[in-house]
Formats: sequence, C-alpha cells, structure tokens
Amino acid sequence: MPDRDFFNLRDAVQLLESRGELATVSGRIHWDVELGALCREVYRRKGPALLFSNIQDYPAETARCSQLVSGLFASMRRVSLLLGFDDVQPNKRLVEYVLERNDMRIAPRIVESGPVHKHVITGKDIDLLEFPVPRWHFLDAGRYIGTLGCVVTKDPETQQLNVGIYRGMVVDRDRIAVLIISSQSWEIFREKYRARNEPVPMAWVFGWDPIMEFIAGTTFPNGVCEYEVMGAYRGRPVPLVKCKTVDLLVPADAEMVVEGYLSLDPSTFALEGPFGEVTGYASDVPTMRPAMKVTAITHRDDPLFRATAAAGLPNAPSEFGYVIAIQRAAIAWNVLRNAGIPGILNVCVQPISNGTTVIVQIKKTYEGQPKQIAAALWGSLTCKSVYKIVIVVDDDIDPTSYEAVDWAINYRVDPGSDDLGVFRSTIGWALDPSAPLENRQPSELGIALGNRLLIDATKTWRFPRRAEWNNEKFPPVSINRPEDIELMKRRWEEYRIKNWDEKF
Ligand SMILES: Cc1cc2nc3c(=O)[nH]c(=O)nc-3n(C[C@H](O)[C@H](O)[C@H](O)COP(=O)(O)O)c2cc1C
Repeated sequence: MPDRDFFNLRDAVQLLESRGELATVSGRIHWDVELGALCREVYRRKGPALLFSNIQDYPAETARCSQLVSGLFASMRRVSLLLGFDDVQPNKRLVEYVLERNDMRIAPRIVESGPVHKHVITGKDIDLLEFPVPRWHFLDAGRYIGTLGCVVTKDPETQQLNVGIYRGMVVDRDRIAVLIISSQSWEIFREKYRARNEPVPMAWVFGWDPIMEFIAGTTFPNGVCEYEVMGAYRGRPVPLVKCKTVDLLVPADAEMVVEGYLSLDPSTFALEGPFGEVTGYASDVPTMRPAMKVTAITHRDDPLFRATAAAGLPNAPSEFGYVIAIQRAAIAWNVLRNAGIPGILNVCVQPISNGTTVIVQIKKTYEGQPKQIAAALWGSLTCKSVYKIVIVVDDDIDPTSYEAVDWAINYRVDPGSDDLGVFRSTIGWALDPSAPLENRQPSELGIALGNRLLIDATKTWRFPRRAEWNNEKFPPVSINRPEDIELMKRRWEEYRIKNWDEKF
C-alpha cells in the first residue's frame, strides 16, 4: 500500500523525469496556440509529461514565471507513480486503493509560513499575464489560466473548506471569468453568499502535490473537506498556511496562489467561452459569467506554472481523462456497493470517455442485475455529468479491454430486446454536445437534462438450455483448452516459426 510524504510539484516532476515519464521542451514555443497544439500531439502519441522552459515572452532571466508543466497524469503508469506505487498497476488495484482512501480522513494542520508566500503581489502590481498562461486552442475565447488549478472556497455557515477544479479565463490583469456548473459545492456556497450579499472568497492553487488535483477534480459528497482526503492518501496532515487577503487556507509549499473574490453582481460579469473542453469540442457560446477579482498573487521563488490542455480528442485522451478515470470508476463502485448489488468484480472508466461511459464486470446471479446496476448509478447524484452509458459484461470479459467489451457488445447484445435500455430526461450535463441546446439550460431547468443508455452485454438467461451446448444457453466459445495451450508451450520451439521472434 503506497504511503509516502507529500510531493511538492518539483518532487513530482523529478520523480517522473527519473522514471522516463517527463521531457523538457527547451526550444522556444509560443503560449498562443503552439504550446497547446504540442500538448495535444503528445497526448495523441501517448508521449511523456512536458516541462516547458522557453516560452515566448517569458524569458528565464527576467520573467516572474518562465516554466509551465503539463501532462503529469496523462498515462496510467504516471497515475500509478503519482499515487505512490512503484510502477503501473492494473485498473482493479487502483480502483480498490482509491475506494479505500476516499473513505479515510486526516485533518490538515496549520503552519505559520511557507515557500508559497516568498513573493506577495498586491494592488496595482497584480498582473496575471506575468505568468505564461496559454491560449490552448485557436477557437478558445482567451487565455485559460484555470485548467488544473484547484479552487479553495468555504461554506460561510459551517466554515468547511472545499477544493474543486473549475475552468477560468483571464479577462484582464486582475480578473478571471469562471464557469460554475449547477450542483457543484461552490455553487451551493455561492447561493449562501448571495443570501448574505457578500462576494465569494476564493484561492486558486496552481501546482502542489498532484494528489490535490486527483482529489479536487472528483465528486465527494457535500460537506467533505478535500484537504482531509488528501491527508488520508499521504497518511499525514496537509500543511496549510493562511492566505494573505482572503480568509482561506492553502498548501504551504504550493507553487503559486491567486487570491480574490468572486463577485455575484451581474454588472461585474465578463464574457467567457468558448473553450476546448474535455469533450474535445469548443464548448458553448460566449456567455456573461461571474468573474473573480484578484486581491493578491503569492508564489515561490522561480515558480512552475501547472496547467493542461483540457480537450481530449477522438484518438487521444487528455490529462483530464486520466485524472478522473480511476476516481470515477471508484465512485461508481461505491454507489453499487452502497446499493447492495452483489457480484461486482471490476469497474472501468476509459480515460477517453472522461466517465461518460462506465463498464461494470459482474458475476451474474440473476437476470435483472444489469438493470439494477444502471438504476443505482442513475439514481445517484454522483451521475450528474457522468455514466451516461453503462455497459455491463460477464466475468469472462475483461472490462479494461476495448476489444473484449466490443466483442461482448457484438455477440451478446440483441438491439431489439431488453439488452438495451434507455432512460430519458434524467439529470444531464450542460457540456454534453450531443444533447439539444434547450436541454442544456440550467437557468431554465435547474440542472441540464440528459438521456441515458444501458448496454447489457451479459449473456441473457432467457434462452432455453441446449443439451448439445453442455446444457448452457449460449454455444461454447472457441477458446483454446488448457491442454491445447500446454501442448503449444511444450512444442513452441519445434514449430520453427520463421521471421517471428515471439517466445511463448
Ligand atoms: C481538469 C478539470 C476541469 C474541470 N472544470 C470544471 C468547470 O469548469 N466547472 C465545473 O463546475 N466543474 C469542473 N470540473 C469538475 C469539478 O472539478 C468536479 O466536479 C468536482 O467534483 C467539483 O467539486 P465540488 O463538487 O466540490 O465543487 C473540472 C474537473 C477537472 C478535473
């Protein structure tokens, strides 16, 4: 079981570099589109994490911040290493580990000072563009600073801290416009601040132990303080310092923190979007959205700016997909566990789907089990932006193998039968481009509306048993028997297979 001290971002960079998982881009690259384009190309080639050290307009000698790091999580090996494992782990091992740690808590501790306060910028000296914030894609409305930054907010009634990841676009030197999706914790807090006629204090943390991103980007029940979960993952309390201009706490050795207040006064709103979103689409039209007014920027010496190209493409999962895949599988498994559904063997979310599709492997013990699984997932609030498609497979199908799952869909699903189940007009996701625009209006609907699909790719139990199929309901699969495999293994060298150097 991994148990290691907190990384700071530099430790994480070093670890990945030493394991051949991080490359430095030392040639000049432009923050305007070029950097984002290279990130996406490297995702497509399943390449390493990238440290950019020579960014146009941000020379190392004079810039306040000259380096950007991206892609730390963008492979399952890197997810495993950053969680603290020695090397890549199978899906089930990671999901079980996350399931266990998500239920544990270690309260943070407050320390007097930390490297994050080495430099404190306030008032007219604030300029967000002193940091190398990319315009990630040519269709983006502007330079997006908030891609993997973690936003700290607080419930004004209970004082409970919350950490989440939300997108944010630089509006001008001291304002960041944000997208708040309904039912997120900070949206609930926002309504409480609105009732008090107060702005929302925020602290945006860019770069610390990546475990922060792994926890902040996932859905915990309202009332859970993500700092306590981060502590549980590392087996020790998170060291936090008080912010300089807002009443919030941030990791003492974070790279950089942007403090400020989110105004709820519509006259202060700013145009935000479109943005190359996790779906791969340039999401939504320019919309007036709340903007954070920055009151301070604090940072370490020579800070590393942490960011990512959010958009996953049809053939290239983004870092976002990897950050949330294991968590979204674990949260689905937790829902099924709490619903008391038996026989769950493994749950898999492929990074390309960002959790839109979840694949559940079961030991089937009754015919209605797949429907019950879908109903439990769709009946839970955790499904708000995920689990649109639920695929259930038998215990002989590896849920982490695309080919195995596809095979099961091809030969165990009869599309005209109850193998497919559609559940219409449930809670949906405003960023899903396949839903009609009128269903993506939280202002009208509270939360967006969406339709959902169950693919029951298990063998149906409704067929009669047949004597010629060993009294089973499906014909036997033409797999090699153990004795066939044993024979091949024994005779492999004797076959003298030319031009193929494979060992058995
Ligand atoms: C890279 C990344 C970007 C995200 N962007 C947004 C966003 O712009 N708006 C949003 O509401 N949620 C966004 N999310 C999802 C939230 O971070 C996630 O739902 C989290 O559970 C929110 O925490 P909360 O429920 O404590 O507010 C993003 C997640 C990740 C990993």
